[in-house]
Amino acid sequence: MDVYVLRLGHRIGRDQRISTHVALTARAFGAKGVYFDKYDERLFSSVKKVVETWGGDFFIQNVEWRKLLRSFDGIKVHLTMYGVPFVEKIEEIRKSERILVVVGAEKVPREVYEICDFNVSIGLQPHSEVSALAVFLDRLLEGVVFSLEFKNAKLKIIPSERGKKVLSLRVTKNDDTSDRV
Ligand SMILES: C[S@@+](CC[C@H](N)C(=O)[O-])C[C@H]1O[C@@H](n2cnc3c(N)ncnc32)[C@H](O)[C@@H]1O
Repeated sequence: MDVYVLRLGHRIGRDQRISTHVALTARAFGAKGVYFDKYDERLFSSVKKVVETWGGDFFIQNVEWRKLLRSFDGIKVHLTMYGVPFVEKIEEIRKSERILVVVGAEKVPREVYEICDFNVSIGLQPHSEVSALAVFLDRLLEGVVFSLEFKNAKLKIIPSERGKKVLSLRVTKNDDTSDRV
C-alpha cells in the first residue's frame, strides 16, 4: 500500500517546526512522500537533508492542492477532529492500494471535506496534525514504523538500553550496498 501525505495551510516562518515534524513523521511511519501547498526553501532543504543522511527515497514536493486532490489516483482521507472515528472506517480505507492523507494547519477549506472520500477523526478532541498523522499511519500500516529499513543511509542507529550508538555507513558507487567505516 502506498501512502502519501498532503499538508495544507503551511505558513512560512510560523509553521516551520511543526511542518518539519509532519514531514519527518510521514517518512518515519512509512509514507512515500509529502506534498505541501507552499514552497518553503528552509523546510524543504531540512527534510531533504534528513533523507540524505538517514536514507530512503521519501520525497517532499509542492503542489497546487486542488489539482492534486482532484487528480489523485486513489482514495483521499482527511484527518479532522470533526470526522467519523477512524477505527470505524479503517477496513474500508485499507482496501485501497493508494492513499492520500490530508492534514491541516488552521482552518481547512470546506471544499476539502467535500473532495475527500473520508473525513476521519483520531479521537474527538483537538490535538495536532503530527499526533493525528502518527496514529493514522501506525494503525493503517500496522506498526511498520518498528521495522522499516531505509536504503542508502549514511547513518544508522544501533538500539541500546542507554546512551547513543550510531553507525556511520559508506555507500559505494554503482552499488547500493553499504559498508561499515
Ligand atoms: C491545529 S489542528 C486544527 C484542529 C481543527 N479544528 C480540525 O479540524 O481538526 C491542525 C490539524 O490537526 C489535525 N487534527 C487535530 N486534531 C485531530 C483529531 N482529533 N483527529 C484528526 N485530526 C486532527 C487535523 O488535520 C487539523 O487540520
